[in-house]
Amino acid sequence: QMEGPMKKTVITEDMIVNKTANGYNLNFDVNKNYTTKTATVNGKTVTYRAYENIVYVAKPADIAYQTINIYIPEEYFKNKTVGKYNARTAPIFFPNTVGGYMPGAAGIPGNGRDGQPDASLIALSNGYVVASPGARGRTLEKDGKYTGKAPAVILDLKAAVRYLRYNDNKMPGRADRIISNGTSAGGGVSALLGATGNNTDYEPYLKEIGALNARDDIYAVSAYCPITNLDNANTAYEWMFNNIKTYKKIEISMLDYNVERKYTEGTLTDDEISRSNDLKKMFPAYLNSLKLKGKNGKLLTLDKNGNGSFKEQIKQYYIDSANVALKKGTDLSEFEFLTIKNGKVVDLDYDKYIVYMGRQKTPGAFDNVDLSTGENNEFGDETTNNKHFTEYMLKHSTVNGTMADKKIIKMMNPMNYLSNTKVKYWRIRHGAVDKDTSLAIPAILAIKLQNLGKNVDFASPWATPHSGDYDLDELFRWMDKVVA
Ligand code: DHB
Repeated sequence: QMEGPMKKTVITEDMIVNKTANGYNLNFDVNKNYTTKTATVNGKTVTYRAYENIVYVAKPADIAYQTINIYIPEEYFKNKTVGKYNARTAPIFFPNTVGGYMPGAAGIPGNGRDGQPDASLIALSNGYVVASPGARGRTLEKDGKYTGKAPAVILDLKAAVRYLRYNDNKMPGRADRIISNGTSAGGGVSALLGATGNNTDYEPYLKEIGALNARDDIYAVSAYCPITNLDNANTAYEWMFNNIKTYKKIEISMLDYNVERKYTEGTLTDDEISRSNDLKKMFPAYLNSLKLKGKNGKLLTLDKNGNGSFKEQIKQYYIDSANVALKKGTDLSEFEFLTIKNGKVVDLDYDKYIVYMGRQKTPGAFDNVDLSTGENNEFGDETTNNKHFTEYMLKHSTVNGTMADKKIIKMMNPMNYLSNTKVKYWRIRHGAVDKDTSLAIPAILAIKLQNLGKNVDFASPWATPHSGDYDLDELFRWMDKVVA
């Protein structure tokens, strides 16, 4: 199997299947423009129809990314079942390929970097319809204008959902059972998609790109290490890593989790240390403003030094993580910051744990004074490549940076929409040694959702770095359960 996430095909105009003399035909036709493919999953042959390179908007800015690939088990055209499902009941697995807020083309099922079937192939073998949307990203340019800055990525995912809902009765699978999946920036936009279904904030932007007139809410969210809540991620990062004055940094061009990472080591400058101290001090006010509640119903808070019940909760996630690993038989004896008694991890030295993890980013980790981050680049606009999105960095800008549109900053952060979302099922993972963002960020998302009465499956898997799709058996067990 040669295909998969490693193989990047550049989609050109001649490959688009739904271009007509008068624009793009947004009516799906199950009998046209497909190839039949086979793959082997766990020794079993999976046969499916591949409908690829379908433009999902009437007025695309970039046909290389505003397309969707749809894959349907062949059995569904013979009135058969696959696993638990048939043509009428099959859920739709909706994995994006976004990383680093870079453009992500529509995905193709195949074997992953590890040579194993990826999530999409497993989905097909389990009877899911797979619909993989492409989406624009921060580096796209056309005729001297940037065409993929925020909020392009979320508009494109919504437009792709609308395509599936609009064409629901023309293909196998249930458009009211769309489960979004993504990793890192892709996890962030997966959560954003779940948070903002049918929200009118996006309507004028969606009209502009010629999105179909249909619902864009989804059924459930899977998000791995979501790089999200960007306008509070700087302060959350320094709240966690303030004590760590050395770092192992990756170049921003390689920030995308899909790409092999190279690290350079360094030490924080006096300016950076002073910024870190400022940002750390700002986090408690934000955290306390959320009025999050723990499982016992008590408020999760932080005092002005950043200590308190919220910090205890974060520590508890790491303890829980170690206990899960211990139960699976992982040898934890090398980790002297753990206290293990009678086969149970009963305590963890938080400060030592953070030292063990180490710092990866310099302050500001997401919005920086010199506009150097991937997120600064994401918040640019048609004519300005990089912008600030926090008041602190605007004020301390060393490059006379300007502020992104307030409305667009709002539209990129799921936290602003959670109280209105109808999505009940959320599965969020953030590895216990992931330092691309502070664990506080996915934790805040998960706890807020729990407080809203949602069904949330949140965990920080032991010794797991910034990555996704590493527990596909559990992911599919969860998906099968929530669609039932
Ligand atoms: C990704 C990683 C980051 O550290 C970040 O800030 C944004 C995106 C990523 O891997 O997608």
